Amino acid sequence: MDFKRILITAALPYANGPVHIGHLAGCFLPADIYARYQRAQKRDVKFVCGSDEHGVPITIRAMKEGITPQDVVDKYHAIIKDSFEQMGISFDIYSRTSSKTHHETSQAFFKKLYNDGVFEERESDQYYDEEKNTFLADRYIVGTCPVCSNDNAYGDQCEKCGSTLSPEQLINPRSALSSAPLVKKKTTHWYFPLDKYEAWLKEWIVEGKKDEWKANVYGQCKSWIDSGLQPRAMTRDSNWGVPVPLPGADGKVLYVWFDAPIGYISATKELTNQWSDYWCKDDTKLVHFIGKDNIVFHCIIFPAMLKAHGGFVLPDNVPANEFLNIEGQKVSTSRNWAVWVDEYVKDFPDQQDILRYVLCANAPETKDNDFTWQDFRDRTNNELVSVFGNFVNRAFVLMHKLCNGRVPKLHEEVMDDADRALIQEIKLAKQKVESCLEGYKFRDGLFEVVDLARKANKYMQDKQPWITAKSLDTTPDNQKLIDNCLHLCLQLTANLAILVNPFLPFTAKKMCGMMKVVDRMLEWENAGRIDLLKTNYPLQPPVLLFRKIEDTEVATQVEKLHNNLKQATNQAMENNTTPNATPEAAPQAEETSKYLPPKPEITIDDFNKIDLRVATILSCEKVEKADKLLKLELDLGYEVRTVLSGIAMHFKPEDIVGKQVTVVANLAPRKMKGIESKGMILMAQNMDGKLIFVSAVDTADNGGEVR
Ligand code: MF3
Ligand code: ZN
Repeated sequence: MDFKRILITAALPYANGPVHIGHLAGCFLPADIYARYQRAQKRDVKFVCGSDEHGVPITIRAMKEGITPQDVVDKYHAIIKDSFEQMGISFDIYSRTSSKTHHETSQAFFKKLYNDGVFEERESDQYYDEEKNTFLADRYIVGTCPVCSNDNAYGDQCEKCGSTLSPEQLINPRSALSSAPLVKKKTTHWYFPLDKYEAWLKEWIVEGKKDEWKANVYGQCKSWIDSGLQPRAMTRDSNWGVPVPLPGADGKVLYVWFDAPIGYISATKELTNQWSDYWCKDDTKLVHFIGKDNIVFHCIIFPAMLKAHGGFVLPDNVPANEFLNIEGQKVSTSRNWAVWVDEYVKDFPDQQDILRYVLCANAPETKDNDFTWQDFRDRTNNELVSVFGNFVNRAFVLMHKLCNGRVPKLHEEVMDDADRALIQEIKLAKQKVESCLEGYKFRDGLFEVVDLARKANKYMQDKQPWITAKSLDTTPDNQKLIDNCLHLCLQLTANLAILVNPFLPFTAKKMCGMMKVVDRMLEWENAGRIDLLKTNYPLQPPVLLFRKIEDTEVATQVEKLHNNLKQATNQAMENNTTPNATPEAAPQAEETSKYLPPKPEITIDDFNKIDLRVATILSCEKVEKADKLLKLELDLGYEVRTVLSGIAMHFKPEDIVGKQVTVVANLAPRKMKGIESKGMILMAQNMDGKLIFVSAVDTADNGGEVR
């Protein structure tokens, strides 16, 4: 089918917290690459998204922070929107579901289904809190877990043993909002009869999408459909959400998974008067980018809603990604095991493209994948800096040195096989990247781009124009050889800019600046051409495209992750709660435990790098203007040195003088509050947060090695 226009959506993130790099890698980055590529193809593209501002997660966050749900969404909508802008996610509109248009659009949608008699009205018994005068969502009911006897299990899940529960299964259920005894009350809701759409879904997906949709997406859909579909309530008792537009439906709102996907339609309406072209005409290609926990909603429930309503296009594809783990562990927002985008852009100013690169190169396209800071460093330094950046830089430096800063001429009469092969590679690269992007294979597409840079590097290395330049006087044709090499390298650079633009737009822009070409050069149809830069055209000096990532930056980020986790764990222990998973979003199973998770395995050589020594505290004092720090003078036998330790909240200086401790003696010195600390003393932490010195049972010699 030939499409006239493309409507791209990215899952609306819940406005109950900032976005992390797992969100970027799973959904927003691939969607953005696709949108940028399609725009470069000069196709009619709209790319829409916005904040999902309803649902239980928002109300829970509001309770935790002691603010209103509106405060919560206002705060996080702004943070999320800014993160996307910073990262170059090029939405045509980033809207929100609290907007007036959205309320009207989702209510009208509901009303149409209601008037057409689509819903089944059903009465059921639901738990009710008489003190707060409210029905309770499953999350708001707590009680004893029937499986593991945890006293604080939720009505939908026990976080201690991981069992999925219903409120009925809890022993001694009680309200999480008040101490009022729970009562059951009758309530009416409107159910969407998914069962009636089973046959149609079978035909449309199970038979129709087998070869088109990604295996992970198709598989999930098929197993859902095969296990039989049930009617699903599309309304909830709550005072936060889109009110149900029926008389007498006070205190009832649309189910968040009913209203949120309609948010795509509302956003398009806000974007353009032509919105119905994108939603109602058959020759629109609708593509939903999502994470795997959203598959059933986008492939089954929302399409069934659209079908029931009538007049809407259905998704052509739903390229869902799996999850991105961090340093070997599942992302957990409650345990703060995540790399937050708003923090990344602060820690690495102007380095958006290297994160885009690493996330795309590691995208969890077919299976869960892992992000590590070491890999972030390695890919940046070994691929972006050494291959891509290095090639572009050399081409420009040599052109300035050997060709007077201008694009040299291509002398056909001295072209050789290597030149012709390179031209062929440039042409092929366009086709390869294009077919990857059309097929939602973003990692492979990116690797093709880097591969072209790699071939270009080799070409230049083989040609060695800097050597040829040494015998210019004796062999006059040599200038022609140099010209040809650099002519092709520069045309290839222009091609790299076009091909890399969907992935690394900031870099492509910098390259256009160096080549003094306008953005229009980046149009996709220009890829494959070797006449993009005019002969004799003067170019700018090179600018640095990427910078190296230092080992210390890796260490700082890894430490930050572990500190965040520690803090979140301590906080949870103080509040006597287990950090909880995000409800509503289906199971991104998050482990919870009072123990810190194990760190990755190391070798004995790793361990032997650490110089552990016995030492005695000679003196100790508080550090001015630092609540937590003590300054210690330590006797290490072979020397006396100063170490700062963050234990002032736990010990009085006079109580620890004379104590024998274990010191990491070869830790790089670090300045805090103007004092240089040379080493770290080992402490054990008890489950109640109490600190204990790790020291020899018998007195040992200062300076003795600990092994
Ligand atoms: N807020 C949901 C999540 O983060 C996604 C909503 S997608 C939409 O899991 F289609 F409902 F908008
Ligand atoms: Zn349990």
